[in-house]
Amino acid sequence: MSESTPEPLPPVAANDTAAQPAAGRSGLDGGTAGEVLLSIQGLSKSFGSVRANRDISLEVRRGEIVALLGENGAGKSTLVNQIFGLITPDSGTVSIQGDAAKIRDPKDAIARGIGMVHQHFQLVPVMTVAENMMLGHETTRGGGFLDLEAARSMVRELSAKHGLAVDPDAEVDDLPVGSQQRVEILKALSRKADLLILDEPTAVLTPQETDELLGVMKDLARSGTSIVFITHKLREVLAVADRVYVLRQGAVVGEVATAATDARRLATMMVGREVVLSIEKAPATPGEAVLEIEDLRVQDDRELVAVNGFSLTVRAGEIVGVAGVEGNGQRELVEALAGMRKVVSGRVTLGELDLTRANPHRTHHAGVGHIPEDREKHGLVGTYSIADNLVLNEFDQEPFARRGVRQFAAVRENAETLREEFDIRSSGVMQTAGSLSGGNKQKVVVAREMSFRPRLLMAAQPTRGVDVGSIEFIHRRIVEARDAGAAVLLVSAELDEILSLSDRIAVVHGGAVVAEMDAQDADRTEIGRLMAGDH
Ligand SMILES: Nc1ncnc2c1ncn2[C@@H]1O[C@H](COP(=O)(O)OP(=O)(O)O)[C@@H](O)[C@H]1O
Ligand SMILES: [Mg+2]
Repeated sequence: MSESTPEPLPPVAANDTAAQPAAGRSGLDGGTAGEVLLSIQGLSKSFGSVRANRDISLEVRRGEIVALLGENGAGKSTLVNQIFGLITPDSGTVSIQGDAAKIRDPKDAIARGIGMVHQHFQLVPVMTVAENMMLGHETTRGGGFLDLEAARSMVRELSAKHGLAVDPDAEVDDLPVGSQQRVEILKALSRKADLLILDEPTAVLTPQETDELLGVMKDLARSGTSIVFITHKLREVLAVADRVYVLRQGAVVGEVATAATDARRLATMMVGREVVLSIEKAPATPGEAVLEIEDLRVQDDRELVAVNGFSLTVRAGEIVGVAGVEGNGQRELVEALAGMRKVVSGRVTLGELDLTRANPHRTHHAGVGHIPEDREKHGLVGTYSIADNLVLNEFDQEPFARRGVRQFAAVRENAETLREEFDIRSSGVMQTAGSLSGGNKQKVVVAREMSFRPRLLMAAQPTRGVDVGSIEFIHRRIVEARDAGAAVLLVSAELDEILSLSDRIAVVHGGAVVAEMDAQDADRTEIGRLMAGDH
């Protein structure tokens, strides 16, 4: 997206078009569009002091795809869990087809025509698709018990009708994630769902599977199923939704027809200010090889091979992005490079240093900065202050300690400088890191790992769970590290992030690099195909 000439944005008004809710764009025949299927009025829910949903009102019409867009923690799952009877509202009403009776539990929700596909599937892996369909079918509206033969023909019928290719006799275990999700959707449809809730369905999918799912959603809407679709990816919202509700801190901060908006306006609504989505960067001028990974093998926690003959070189002054569906060895690779996980075989060198068997301490002192995937577990000590977290690897060294005595003034001064430079929003540097928002936590990690000017910066999922404003900031900093001569290894499950940041891209599948390319030659579809193991 070109951001060179920013046009003025309309003010972000709550309920932009609330007076005139847009009828579905899906163009239903027969004039059924307009019938309100789900209506939520003044819904509120708190968990202790956290107000997860505040006075939320929204509507979904028949055959309409409505997106719920918002950062992590905005309250999206809480909202839909109340529609599905998993959580009881503190106040407000949920009415389904005009019936405002309390939804007691998921069984009740299913009986009233609500289907939900959770991010973590509820299928029994050792059973076939048809067998899974039989489970829990007592709750089918209209009753009736399914035998296996009936279940098989139901799968075939529904898959043909909705274009959801699934083999009824395949064992769920053997199916790729995208197909397992289709089974979940079929299961909901077999229970005659009028409204399908999809909570972050694309988080686990490859780009191809995502596009397939978006296609399926459109078909379902065309045949009259309503869909509530949760995502934080703007592209997906714009591709399928008729309308979008933007949630921020538990409240609806905007409602708009997708035809009347664009990515930038949606991003602005999410964070409450304008953001730049594209990254400006000069072409890379790579220098000498800094990181060399040769035929690396690493096991996962279950002692299965996760990294399987991985080889890659990263030079000074370039960003190499590792693209891949999560679970293809990326986590184990990064942990091995950071000295946190044992290498089975192969070699890792940083310049002249062999780091194959180095521990995290030695890796750090060799000049490796590491922005870990799980900042709560590996990046920060939540109970320590921001100031202490900023010197976590150097607390016993000059100038932060002298002859074994901590130098508080130096620690504080370092923190004040970095807080300013990295825009860490907090009440002060003595605030505990655990009390910061996701974006600000990540800025503390980024500040610490970049402030010692690493030769190699490893960034794993650097913007996961981070608000759009902080994403932009962190991206800019990563490019600055590159421009200052660092070799940067970026690992991300977000293909858009890989495409916009990287100078070179390595696609990983099954623990090995299956293709490498210059980012400027990269093609989204091609990468998606490679990520899916098709090479
Ligand atoms: N069961 C729970 N107990 C306590 N806090 C919760 C619970 N569920 C959600 N929250 C909090 O409510 C807020 C909204 O969470 P959630 O609805 O999961 O957001 P989203 O799905 O948009 O990421 C967050 O601050 C979250 O930590
Ligand atoms: Mg959620």
